[in-house]
Amino acid sequence: MSPPPAIYLDHGATAFPKAPGVAEAMVGFLEQEAGNPGRGGHRLTVAASRAIEAAREAAAALLGGDPERCLLGPGATFWLNTVLASRLRAGSRVVTSALEHNAVMRPLRRLEAERGVEVAVVEAADPCGVPAPDEMAARVAESPTALVVLTHASNVSGEVLPAAAIAAAVAPVPVLVDAAQSAGALPIDFSTLGAAALACSGHKGLLGPPGIGLLLLARGFEVEPLLSGGTGSRSESEEMPEQLPDRLEAGTPNGVGAAGLGAACRWLSGHGVEAVRERQQRLVRRLADALREIPGVRLHGWRDGAPHTGILSFTVAGLDGGELAARLDRAHGICVRAGLHCAPAAHRRLGTFPDGSVRVGIGPFNSDHDVDALLKAVADLNAAGGR
Ligand SMILES: Cc1ncc(COP(=O)(O)O)c(C=O)c1O
Repeated sequence: MSPPPAIYLDHGATAFPKAPGVAEAMVGFLEQEAGNPGRGGHRLTVAASRAIEAAREAAAALLGGDPERCLLGPGATFWLNTVLASRLRAGSRVVTSALEHNAVMRPLRRLEAERGVEVAVVEAADPCGVPAPDEMAARVAESPTALVVLTHASNVSGEVLPAAAIAAAVAPVPVLVDAAQSAGALPIDFSTLGAAALACSGHKGLLGPPGIGLLLLARGFEVEPLLSGGTGSRSESEEMPEQLPDRLEAGTPNGVGAAGLGAACRWLSGHGVEAVRERQQRLVRRLADALREIPGVRLHGWRDGAPHTGILSFTVAGLDGGELAARLDRAHGICVRAGLHCAPAAHRRLGTFPDGSVRVGIGPFNSDHDVDALLKAVADLNAAGGR
Protein backbone atom coordinates (compact mmCIF):
# COMPACT_ATOMS: atom_id res chain seq x y z
CA MET A 1 0.00 0.00 0.00
CA SER A 2 1.34 3.47 -0.80
CA PRO A 3 2.07 5.58 2.28
CA PRO A 4 -0.48 8.16 3.41
CA PRO A 5 0.25 11.67 2.13
CA ALA A 6 0.61 13.13 5.62
CA ILE A 7 0.97 12.17 9.25
CA TYR A 8 -2.63 11.35 9.93
CA LEU A 9 -3.59 11.65 13.60
CA ASP A 10 -7.33 12.24 13.28
CA HIS A 11 -8.67 8.73 13.83
CA GLY A 12 -11.40 10.07 16.11
CA ALA A 13 -12.97 11.61 12.99
CA THR A 14 -12.33 8.76 10.60
CA ALA A 15 -9.67 6.13 9.96
CA PHE A 16 -7.00 6.74 7.36
CA PRO A 17 -5.66 4.67 5.77
CA LYS A 18 -8.35 2.04 5.73
CA ALA A 19 -7.59 -1.61 6.51
CA PRO A 20 -5.63 -3.52 3.88
CA GLY A 21 -8.03 -5.05 1.39
CA VAL A 22 -10.86 -2.51 1.80
CA ALA A 23 -10.30 -0.60 -1.44
CA GLU A 24 -9.78 -3.84 -3.39
CA ALA A 25 -13.00 -5.33 -2.02
CA MET A 26 -14.93 -2.19 -2.99
CA VAL A 27 -13.51 -2.13 -6.50
CA GLY A 28 -14.19 -5.87 -6.78
CA PHE A 29 -17.81 -5.29 -5.79
CA LEU A 30 -18.27 -2.49 -8.31
CA GLU A 31 -16.64 -4.44 -11.11
CA GLN A 32 -18.06 -7.88 -10.47
CA GLU A 33 -20.90 -7.96 -7.96
CA ALA A 34 -22.85 -4.71 -8.14
CA GLY A 35 -26.36 -6.03 -8.66
CA ASN A 36 -29.20 -4.92 -6.40
CA PRO A 37 -29.19 -7.40 -3.50
CA GLY A 38 -32.38 -9.29 -2.84
CA ARG A 39 -34.09 -7.74 -5.88
CA GLY A 40 -34.59 -10.56 -8.39
CA GLY A 41 -32.67 -13.81 -8.72
CA HIS A 42 -30.00 -13.30 -11.35
CA ARG A 43 -26.31 -13.83 -10.75
CA LEU A 44 -25.43 -10.21 -9.95
CA THR A 45 -28.25 -9.95 -7.42
CA VAL A 46 -27.00 -13.14 -5.80
CA ALA A 47 -23.37 -11.90 -5.83
CA ALA A 48 -24.37 -8.59 -4.21
CA SER A 49 -26.49 -10.35 -1.58
CA ARG A 50 -23.55 -12.62 -0.76
CA ALA A 51 -21.21 -9.63 -0.32
CA ILE A 52 -23.67 -8.00 2.08
CA GLU A 53 -24.29 -11.15 4.07
CA ALA A 54 -20.53 -11.77 4.28
CA ALA A 55 -20.09 -8.24 5.70
CA ARG A 56 -22.87 -8.80 8.20
CA GLU A 57 -21.27 -12.03 9.33
CA ALA A 58 -17.77 -10.53 9.56
CA ALA A 59 -19.00 -7.54 11.60
CA ALA A 60 -21.13 -9.70 13.89
CA ALA A 61 -18.22 -12.12 14.44
CA LEU A 62 -15.85 -9.26 15.29
CA LEU A 63 -18.26 -7.66 17.78
CA GLY A 64 -19.83 -10.78 19.28
CA GLY A 65 -23.26 -10.16 17.76
CA ASP A 66 -25.81 -12.42 16.14
CA PRO A 67 -25.58 -11.97 12.33
CA GLU A 68 -29.37 -12.19 12.08
CA ARG A 69 -29.65 -9.17 14.41
CA CYS A 70 -26.78 -7.18 12.89
CA LEU A 71 -28.22 -4.37 10.75
CA LEU A 72 -26.29 -2.44 8.14
CA GLY A 73 -27.12 1.20 7.36
CA PRO A 74 -25.59 4.62 6.74
CA GLY A 75 -23.73 4.99 10.04
CA ALA A 76 -23.80 5.31 13.79
CA THR A 77 -25.88 8.49 13.57
CA PHE A 78 -28.63 6.74 11.62
CA TRP A 79 -28.82 3.80 13.99
CA LEU A 80 -28.74 5.94 17.13
CA ASN A 81 -31.61 8.03 15.72
CA THR A 82 -33.51 4.86 14.81
CA VAL A 83 -33.32 3.35 18.30
CA LEU A 84 -34.00 6.63 20.13
CA ALA A 85 -37.00 7.53 17.94
CA SER A 86 -38.39 4.03 18.29
CA ARG A 87 -37.96 3.52 22.03
CA LEU A 88 -38.70 7.03 23.33
CA ARG A 89 -42.39 7.74 23.04
CA ALA A 90 -44.39 10.76 24.29
CA GLY A 91 -43.50 11.31 27.93
CA SER A 92 -40.76 8.63 28.06
CA ARG A 93 -37.69 9.21 30.19
CA VAL A 94 -34.12 8.58 29.09
CA VAL A 95 -30.94 8.70 31.18
CA THR A 96 -27.61 9.55 29.59
CA SER A 97 -24.09 10.74 30.42
CA ALA A 98 -22.59 14.23 30.20
CA LEU A 99 -20.07 13.03 27.60
CA GLU A 100 -22.38 12.33 24.67
CA HIS A 101 -21.77 13.22 21.04
CA ASN A 102 -24.38 15.28 19.16
CA ALA A 103 -25.36 12.06 17.36
CA VAL A 104 -27.05 11.26 20.69
CA MET A 105 -27.77 14.72 22.15
CA ARG A 106 -29.40 16.25 19.08
CA PRO A 107 -31.95 13.47 18.58
CA LEU A 108 -32.61 13.53 22.34
CA ARG A 109 -33.20 17.30 22.36
CA ARG A 110 -35.45 16.95 19.34
CA LEU A 111 -37.47 14.19 20.99
CA GLU A 112 -37.65 16.34 24.12
CA ALA A 113 -39.09 19.24 22.10
CA GLU A 114 -41.38 17.19 19.85
CA ARG A 115 -42.59 14.42 22.16
CA GLY A 116 -41.95 15.72 25.65
CA VAL A 117 -39.30 13.08 26.29
CA GLU A 118 -37.57 13.72 29.63
CA VAL A 119 -33.78 13.74 29.21
CA ALA A 120 -31.89 13.13 32.47
CA VAL A 121 -28.16 13.82 32.14
CA VAL A 122 -25.96 12.32 34.84
CA GLU A 123 -23.49 14.97 35.96
CA ALA A 124 -20.99 12.54 37.42
CA ALA A 125 -18.96 13.43 40.49
CA ASP A 126 -15.88 12.35 38.58
CA PRO A 127 -13.94 15.38 37.23
CA CYS A 128 -13.66 13.78 33.78
CA GLY A 129 -17.44 13.29 33.63
CA VAL A 130 -17.30 9.48 33.60
CA PRO A 131 -20.45 8.24 35.34
CA ALA A 132 -20.09 5.52 37.96
CA PRO A 133 -22.52 2.60 37.62
CA ASP A 134 -24.22 3.50 40.91
CA GLU A 135 -24.68 7.11 39.79
CA MET A 136 -26.43 5.92 36.62
CA ALA A 137 -28.51 3.43 38.61
CA ALA A 138 -29.53 6.10 41.14
CA ARG A 139 -30.71 8.41 38.35
CA VAL A 140 -32.61 5.57 36.70
CA ALA A 141 -34.27 4.69 40.01
CA GLU A 142 -35.65 8.24 40.43
CA SER A 143 -38.44 7.72 37.92
CA PRO A 144 -39.62 5.09 35.40
CA THR A 145 -37.01 5.08 32.63
CA ALA A 146 -37.45 3.70 29.12
CA LEU A 147 -33.81 3.70 28.05
CA VAL A 148 -30.24 4.48 29.03
CA VAL A 149 -28.02 5.75 26.22
CA LEU A 150 -24.31 5.93 26.72
CA THR A 151 -21.16 6.52 24.75
CA HIS A 152 -18.71 3.65 25.18
CA ALA A 153 -15.69 5.94 24.87
CA SER A 154 -15.58 9.74 24.83
CA ASN A 155 -14.75 11.18 21.43
CA VAL A 156 -13.15 14.15 23.23
CA SER A 157 -11.01 12.61 25.96
CA GLY A 158 -10.79 9.01 24.74
CA GLU A 159 -11.72 7.72 28.18
CA VAL A 160 -13.62 4.43 28.15
CA LEU A 161 -16.89 4.34 30.10
CA PRO A 162 -17.78 1.26 32.18
CA ALA A 163 -20.60 0.20 29.85
CA ALA A 164 -20.90 -3.40 31.06
CA ALA A 165 -21.01 -2.39 34.73
CA ILE A 166 -23.56 0.34 33.96
CA ALA A 167 -25.73 -2.09 32.00
CA ALA A 168 -25.65 -4.47 34.97
CA ALA A 169 -26.39 -1.66 37.45
CA VAL A 170 -29.42 -0.26 35.58
CA ALA A 171 -30.94 -3.62 34.54
CA PRO A 172 -33.66 -4.32 33.49
CA VAL A 173 -33.72 -0.87 31.83
CA PRO A 174 -32.29 -1.41 28.32
CA VAL A 175 -29.01 0.28 27.42
CA LEU A 176 -28.13 1.62 23.98
CA VAL A 177 -24.35 1.86 23.59
CA ASP A 178 -22.84 4.37 21.19
CA ALA A 179 -19.74 2.45 20.16
CA ALA A 180 -18.66 4.89 17.43
CA GLN A 181 -15.33 5.42 19.20
CA SER A 182 -14.86 1.98 20.70
CA ALA A 183 -15.63 -0.50 17.92
CA GLY A 184 -12.30 -1.69 16.58
CA ALA A 185 -10.42 0.21 19.29
CA LEU A 186 -11.47 -2.01 22.21
CA PRO A 187 -12.29 -5.70 22.16
CA ILE A 188 -16.11 -5.81 22.31
CA ASP A 189 -18.23 -8.86 22.98
CA PHE A 190 -21.82 -7.73 22.56
CA SER A 191 -23.07 -11.13 23.73
CA THR A 192 -21.71 -10.48 27.24
CA LEU A 193 -21.80 -6.66 27.38
CA GLY A 194 -25.34 -6.66 28.75
CA ALA A 195 -26.50 -3.89 26.39
CA ALA A 196 -29.77 -4.09 24.49
CA ALA A 197 -28.32 -2.40 21.41
CA LEU A 198 -24.99 -1.15 20.10
CA ALA A 199 -24.52 1.28 17.23
CA CYS A 200 -21.23 2.09 15.52
CA SER A 201 -19.71 3.62 12.41
CA GLY A 202 -17.89 1.52 9.85
CA HIS A 203 -15.37 4.21 8.97
CA LYS A 204 -13.66 4.83 12.32
CA GLY A 205 -12.08 2.05 14.40
CA LEU A 206 -13.54 -0.63 12.15
CA LEU A 207 -11.29 0.81 9.39
CA GLY A 208 -13.95 0.58 6.69
CA PRO A 209 -15.35 3.14 4.24
CA PRO A 210 -17.62 6.07 5.12
CA GLY A 211 -21.37 5.75 4.54
CA ILE A 212 -21.87 2.48 6.37
CA GLY A 213 -22.36 1.56 9.99
CA LEU A 214 -24.11 -1.06 12.01
CA LEU A 215 -26.55 -1.80 14.77
CA LEU A 216 -26.49 -4.91 16.94
CA LEU A 217 -29.71 -5.83 18.71
CA ALA A 218 -30.01 -8.22 21.63
CA ARG A 219 -32.71 -10.90 21.40
CA GLY A 220 -36.04 -9.57 22.61
CA PHE A 221 -35.12 -5.91 22.08
CA GLU A 222 -37.18 -4.80 19.08
CA VAL A 223 -36.92 -1.52 17.22
CA GLU A 224 -39.31 0.13 14.78
CA PRO A 225 -37.89 1.33 11.45
CA LEU A 226 -37.07 5.01 11.04
CA LEU A 227 -37.56 4.69 7.29
CA SER A 228 -40.02 2.61 5.30
CA GLY A 229 -39.49 1.51 1.73
CA GLY A 230 -38.56 -1.31 -0.59
CA THR A 231 -36.78 -4.34 0.77
CA GLY A 232 -36.99 -6.80 -2.11
CA SER A 233 -38.96 -9.10 0.21
CA ARG A 234 -42.76 -9.24 0.81
CA SER A 235 -43.32 -6.93 -2.15
CA GLU A 236 -47.05 -7.69 -2.07
CA SER A 237 -47.38 -5.82 1.23
CA GLU A 238 -47.44 -2.07 1.78
CA GLU A 239 -46.17 -2.62 5.33
CA MET A 240 -42.55 -3.20 6.25
CA PRO A 241 -41.77 -6.93 6.60
CA GLU A 242 -41.62 -8.32 10.13
CA GLN A 243 -38.34 -10.16 9.84
CA LEU A 244 -34.87 -8.74 10.33
CA PRO A 245 -32.79 -7.45 8.67
CA ASP A 246 -35.39 -6.35 6.11
CA ARG A 247 -37.61 -4.65 8.68
CA LEU A 248 -34.92 -2.07 9.43
CA GLU A 249 -33.09 -1.91 6.09
CA ALA A 250 -35.38 -0.05 3.67
CA GLY A 251 -34.08 0.93 0.22
CA THR A 252 -31.18 -0.33 -1.86
CA PRO A 253 -28.37 -1.18 0.54
CA ASN A 254 -24.87 0.24 0.27
CA GLY A 255 -23.32 -2.87 -1.25
CA VAL A 256 -20.01 -1.26 -2.07
CA GLY A 257 -19.74 0.04 1.49
CA ALA A 258 -20.66 -3.38 2.85
CA ALA A 259 -17.98 -5.02 0.71
CA GLY A 260 -15.42 -2.60 2.20
CA LEU A 261 -16.72 -3.03 5.74
CA GLY A 262 -16.63 -6.81 5.42
CA ALA A 263 -12.99 -6.72 4.28
CA ALA A 264 -12.12 -4.34 7.14
CA CYS A 265 -13.78 -6.56 9.77
CA ARG A 266 -12.06 -9.65 8.40
CA TRP A 267 -8.70 -7.84 8.53
CA LEU A 268 -9.35 -6.72 12.12
CA SER A 269 -10.39 -10.21 13.19
CA GLY A 270 -7.19 -11.64 11.71
CA HIS A 271 -4.91 -8.91 13.05
CA GLY A 272 -6.66 -8.82 16.43
CA VAL A 273 -8.35 -5.83 18.09
CA GLU A 274 -6.22 -6.53 21.16
CA ALA A 275 -3.08 -5.93 19.08
CA VAL A 276 -4.54 -2.66 17.77
CA ARG A 277 -5.38 -1.62 21.29
CA GLU A 278 -1.93 -2.40 22.68
CA ARG A 279 -0.26 -0.32 20.01
CA GLN A 280 -2.67 2.61 20.45
CA GLN A 281 -2.28 2.48 24.22
CA ARG A 282 1.48 2.52 24.10
CA LEU A 283 1.59 5.43 21.66
CA VAL A 284 -1.11 7.53 23.33
CA ARG A 285 0.51 7.11 26.76
CA ARG A 286 3.88 8.10 25.35
CA LEU A 287 2.26 11.12 23.76
CA ALA A 288 0.48 12.12 26.99
CA ASP A 289 3.67 11.80 29.06
CA ALA A 290 5.72 13.88 26.65
CA LEU A 291 3.07 16.50 25.81
CA ARG A 292 2.60 17.54 29.41
CA GLU A 293 6.32 18.21 29.71
CA ILE A 294 5.94 20.99 27.13
CA PRO A 295 5.39 24.32 28.94
CA GLY A 296 1.81 25.59 28.61
CA VAL A 297 0.35 22.28 27.42
CA ARG A 298 -2.69 20.96 29.30
CA LEU A 299 -4.29 17.59 28.74
CA HIS A 300 -8.08 17.41 29.13
CA GLY A 301 -9.90 14.37 30.46
CA TRP A 302 -6.67 12.40 30.58
CA ARG A 303 -6.00 10.20 33.60
CA ASP A 304 -2.97 8.00 34.00
CA GLY A 305 -3.98 4.37 34.29
CA ALA A 306 -7.59 4.88 33.16
CA PRO A 307 -8.76 2.90 30.12
CA HIS A 308 -8.41 5.02 26.99
CA THR A 309 -8.78 4.65 23.26
CA GLY A 310 -6.17 6.28 21.01
CA ILE A 311 -7.74 9.73 21.55
CA LEU A 312 -6.26 12.54 23.58
CA SER A 313 -7.28 16.22 23.88
CA PHE A 314 -4.98 19.08 24.76
CA THR A 315 -4.66 22.87 24.67
CA VAL A 316 -1.61 25.11 24.64
CA ALA A 317 -1.76 28.32 26.69
CA GLY A 318 -1.75 31.39 24.47
CA LEU A 319 -2.28 29.40 21.26
CA ASP A 320 -5.64 29.17 19.55
CA GLY A 321 -6.49 25.51 18.90
CA GLY A 322 -7.75 26.11 15.36
CA GLU A 323 -4.63 28.04 14.49
CA LEU A 324 -2.43 25.36 16.03
CA ALA A 325 -4.15 22.60 14.04
CA ALA A 326 -3.87 24.66 10.83
CA ARG A 327 -0.15 25.24 11.42
CA LEU A 328 0.43 21.57 12.21
CA ASP A 329 -1.13 20.72 8.86
CA ARG A 330 0.44 23.47 6.73
CA ALA A 331 3.94 23.51 8.17
CA HIS A 332 4.35 19.93 9.35
CA GLY A 333 1.92 17.80 7.34
CA ILE A 334 0.23 16.62 10.54
CA CYS A 335 -3.57 16.16 10.54
CA VAL A 336 -5.35 16.67 13.88
CA ARG A 337 -8.73 18.23 14.68
CA ALA A 338 -9.43 21.34 16.73
CA GLY A 339 -12.73 22.60 18.15
CA LEU A 340 -15.68 21.02 19.92
CA HIS A 341 -15.70 17.70 18.01
CA CYS A 342 -19.54 17.64 17.87
CA ALA A 343 -19.61 17.12 21.64
CA PRO A 344 -20.28 20.49 23.32
CA ALA A 345 -21.66 18.79 26.43
CA ALA A 346 -18.41 16.91 26.96
CA HIS A 347 -16.40 20.12 26.58
CA ARG A 348 -18.65 21.86 29.12
CA ARG A 349 -17.96 19.01 31.50
CA LEU A 350 -14.23 19.12 30.89
CA GLY A 351 -14.09 22.92 31.15
CA THR A 352 -12.99 23.44 27.55
CA PHE A 353 -16.21 25.04 26.24
CA PRO A 354 -16.52 27.12 24.04
CA ASP A 355 -12.98 27.07 22.64
CA GLY A 356 -12.66 23.29 22.61
CA SER A 357 -9.40 21.41 22.32
CA VAL A 358 -6.92 20.01 19.86
CA ARG A 359 -7.73 16.34 19.49
CA VAL A 360 -5.22 13.69 18.50
CA GLY A 361 -6.56 10.32 17.41
CA ILE A 362 -3.99 7.56 17.08
CA GLY A 363 -4.85 4.70 14.75
CA PRO A 364 -3.51 1.20 14.18
CA PHE A 365 -1.03 2.30 11.51
CA ASN A 366 0.57 5.16 13.43
CA SER A 367 4.12 4.79 14.68
CA ASP A 368 6.57 6.28 17.17
CA HIS A 369 7.81 8.42 14.31
CA ASP A 370 4.35 10.06 14.00
CA VAL A 371 4.20 10.74 17.73
CA ASP A 372 7.74 12.18 17.70
CA ALA A 373 6.87 14.43 14.75
CA LEU A 374 3.80 15.78 16.55
CA LEU A 375 5.71 16.38 19.77
CA LYS A 376 8.48 18.23 17.98
CA ALA A 377 6.00 20.34 15.99
CA VAL A 378 3.97 21.30 19.09
CA ALA A 379 7.16 22.17 20.99
CA ASP A 380 8.42 24.28 18.07
CA LEU A 381 5.11 26.13 17.60
CA ASN A 382 4.88 26.69 21.33
CA ALA A 383 8.42 28.07 21.51
CA ALA A 384 7.66 30.36 18.56
CA GLY A 385 4.51 31.55 20.35
CA GLY A 386 2.35 30.41 17.44
CA ARG A 387 4.09 32.65 14.91
C1 LIG B 1 -19.07 9.20 19.99
C2 LIG B 1 -19.62 9.33 18.60
N1 LIG B 1 -20.89 8.96 18.38
C3 LIG B 1 -21.43 9.03 17.16
C4 LIG B 1 -20.73 9.50 16.09
C5 LIG B 1 -21.38 9.56 14.75
O1 LIG B 1 -20.78 8.68 13.85
P1 LIG B 1 -21.10 8.81 12.29
O2 LIG B 1 -20.78 10.23 11.90
O3 LIG B 1 -20.19 7.84 11.68
O4 LIG B 1 -22.52 8.53 12.09
C6 LIG B 1 -19.40 9.91 16.27
C7 LIG B 1 -18.62 10.47 15.15
O5 LIG B 1 -17.73 11.28 15.31
C8 LIG B 1 -18.83 9.81 17.57
O6 LIG B 1 -17.57 10.18 17.80
